[in-house]
Amino acid sequence: MLTWIYSNNKLSFTLRCKTTGWCAVAFTTGDGRGMQDYDIALGGVASGDNYLNDYWSTSTTKPSKDSANNFVLTTASEADGYTTVQFERDPETSDTANDVQFKPGTEVTIAWAMHNSLDGDVDISKHTDRQVLPTKYILVPGAANMLESRVMLSAILAAIVVYLVS
Ligand code: HEM
Repeated sequence: MLTWIYSNNKLSFTLRCKTTGWCAVAFTTGDGRGMQDYDIALGGVASGDNYLNDYWSTSTTKPSKDSANNFVLTTASEADGYTTVQFERDPETSDTANDVQFKPGTEVTIAWAMHNSLDGDVDISKHTDRQVLPTKYILVPGAANMLESRVMLSAILAAIVVYLVS
């Protein structure tokens, strides 16, 4: 499960996996097939120590760790067989080669993966479960999205006014 909030020019994520091992989410401006151009946040709790790292992958092999970690770990916990990791990221980073840039209106494919027992603080082993989500998402709304929601809101308000005066 992944939820996010965009506020004050920060993206705040909560990622939750049914595992005591590593839990990861990937973003790509592509279609998500074959682990191509994935910007990955991979974290968890290993013997009480919280970890979160930033990776980039171009194929179905072990992703490489970015030289700069642009994901900022807020908290992580492990309870009842679930791992929850909360982290933040600036929508745009200086690591343009290895980070997806979430510009206003940028559509991304989201994928997740996890290992059902092994942690990924020192090294990562291949996932036991993974999935590419079927639809694309906009994490930072663009001017067009803002306009769309304003037009929709005005239409709803107009409908209410018409209803009340009729
Ligand atoms: C040692 C690390 C990793 C290895 C060796 C690896 C390897 C592979 C391989 C061989 C596949 C092809 C299908 C399969 O065998 O399941 C695959 C697919 C996939 N992997 Fe990884 N992977 C690794 C880490 C990751 C991570 C960290 C993510 C983060 C989200 C990820 C996400 C995915 C996804 C979503 C697919 C399906 C892609 C598709 O549908 O085309 N992998 N991986």
